[in-house]
Amino acid sequence: MSANTETLVNSSQTIAQTRQEALKEHPIGKELSITNLGYECRSPQRNITNRHTSAVSTKPGKPRPQTQLKAEPQPQLWRGNANGSDWQVLQGDARNCLKTLPDNCVNCVVTSPPYYCLRDYGVDEQIGQEETVPEYIEAIASVMDDVYRVLKQDGVLFLNLGDTYYSGKGKSHGIDPKSNKRRFGLRAVDKSGGVGIGIQRKSLIGIPWRVATEMETRKWVLRSAIIWHRDRCLPEAVNDRPRRSYEYVFMFVKDRKYYFNRQPLIDQDFDEDVWTIAARPKSTNGLETAPYPDELVERCLAIGCPPQGSVLDCFAGGGTTLRVALNSGRSAIGIELSPIFCDYMVSQLQKPHEGTLCF
Ligand SMILES: C[S@@+](CC[C@H](N)C(=O)[O-])C[C@H]1O[C@@H](n2cnc3c(N)ncnc32)[C@H](O)[C@@H]1O
Repeated sequence: MSANTETLVNSSQTIAQTRQEALKEHPIGKELSITNLGYECRSPQRNITNRHTSAVSTKPGKPRPQTQLKAEPQPQLWRGNANGSDWQVLQGDARNCLKTLPDNCVNCVVTSPPYYCLRDYGVDEQIGQEETVPEYIEAIASVMDDVYRVLKQDGVLFLNLGDTYYSGKGKSHGIDPKSNKRRFGLRAVDKSGGVGIGIQRKSLIGIPWRVATEMETRKWVLRSAIIWHRDRCLPEAVNDRPRRSYEYVFMFVKDRKYYFNRQPLIDQDFDEDVWTIAARPKSTNGLETAPYPDELVERCLAIGCPPQGSVLDCFAGGGTTLRVALNSGRSAIGIELSPIFCDYMVSQLQKPHEGTLCF
């Protein structure tokens, strides 16, 4: 087994018990004390196609085969070092994986959860496919409860969220040529029965603010609602309302005192809370992870993370946050449910490279 790659298989311990023991050591910089955790090291080789119906190969227009994978509560872990900084990738449901991390262990979290009813990532236990809006909000907010715990007291969370319309039109959107990851079955927002909040058809749900205000009731301090103006984004196919061109990046903290470096905002000649950055880059390698642009993460880290701090992304996708963090001399932890995305991310992180990581 490679020194950099380990697959951890939980013993009979529960995740909560495991975390209690994990508190002894923090996985960034100091490795998880595997033997103390009751974990067993297994070969890193995994046959993904046996465990997971590849969503990537699914042709648009054909019904997606039912995914066989039942997400395992046991996180699988890879770790390594790039540019002198440590990285870790945990594969599993963020709701389970976060419980294996100790309290107060990361300086900054930059993350983009799955948007409500927008994409189907093809894995069981994925967030974003809930039948009602309150269920979706609860799913995100409960992940953020654990993020609160693992974030250092002076840490900062940047949470990118997008909105969704309730169409209620009662039929599928049909094939979306833009993405074979979009759901072409009947999404919850297309069903006629509503999404649990009593709104009228064609309403913008207001997901970002619903999540943000829920988090405020759970101890988070909302410091800024940054608008990511998605420069030159693909126009939506609508004619009865303005086409959307922005999303939110909420900046949350735990305490009244926290790390914040305003200088990069002063140095740049742009509005401090409206960031005009090119729209999402094309997905890599045929994997439709809905990545955000490097520059978005760079700006978050420049203002919200000490130069050699540690960064977490609990919905890591193709690994944008990890790559940007490592390229700037910070350590990084990524959590991702899809084994396919994890394998891609890890293979790129493990590639021999000199200087800047590119993928
Ligand atoms: C918007 S994408 C993140 C993209 C990422 N920022 C990037 O640049 O590649 C959301 C990710 O959350 C993952 N995901 C969905 N449900 C999850 C869960 N319960 N736990 C962990 N990851 C999950 C999806 O597989 C997807 O990769």
